[in-house]
Amino acid sequence: MHNTIENLFSGLWNDYISITPSAEKIHALLSQQRNANSHASKSVGSANSDSQSDIINDHIALRTFNLEKVRLSKLAEHFLALGYEAKGDYNFAAKKLDAQHFEHPDKVQPKVFISELKVELMPENVQKIIHQLIEQMPNDAVTETGFLYSGKHWDVSSNDYDVLLQHSEYAAWMAAWGYRANHFTVSVNHLNTHHILEDVNTILKNAGFTLNASGGEIKGGPSVYLAQSSTMADKAEVSFSDTSRTIPSCFYEFAQRYHLPNGELYQGFVAASADKIFESTNVK
Ligand code: NI
Repeated sequence: MHNTIENLFSGLWNDYISITPSAEKIHALLSQQRNANSHASKSVGSANSDSQSDIINDHIALRTFNLEKVRLSKLAEHFLALGYEAKGDYNFAAKKLDAQHFEHPDKVQPKVFISELKVELMPENVQKIIHQLIEQMPNDAVTETGFLYSGKHWDVSSNDYDVLLQHSEYAAWMAAWGYRANHFTVSVNHLNTHHILEDVNTILKNAGFTLNASGGEIKGGPSVYLAQSSTMADKAEVSFSDTSRTIPSCFYEFAQRYHLPNGELYQGFVAASADKIFESTNVK
């Protein structure tokens, strides 16, 4: 496991931008605007500075299957070891997912949202394919230092990918991409110039990026203390066991948090919004 949050997140980020070039472009675009308008940007902590310059990462999201070898709690160990604590639990009935989020006591550190597919609720042929993937992994792979950005540990055919796709976009994405950050998230609250999510969306659209419009471009809002938007995933080439195909990879998210009645900034997630954000990697 990594011994610092910085090392873990820089590994995740470098892997993520390698298949999500638009995220790197958007990061540069927002940094540029931030710096042009700010002469005295505060220095902020650790995992959220250096390689990611002065854009604060609100959270990352990771995906997995609820099978013993790779379940959510196994992925979470990498963060618990660095001082993160388990916070909210979430359920997505239609997508057959459970999720949990983790926070670090140092609030400037990115939050972590981990979901897992409830494999036993999938049709039998889908279960069989997923079990075949995970059986190809060594038992201790999940504890390796770079596991969270190690990609896929299995061979999968394009035909099996298509079968998964019919029943779960999530399962198909996992089969194709494996273990890596599904998205990073710009903290809109920490942008010096554009504190309003709608303004950020306008900048992105003017620059030619496509936003996920499922459930509206902005999911949530002040009434649930969190507003979110995201790009549609980039497309990148994946090698299947029989052929290569270009499919959706990862996307970039934007989050604006609001203050709770007690004055604290809301740190959780909103299931109804996350449900729509998952669709940013949809093929159709
Ligand atoms: Ni997210």
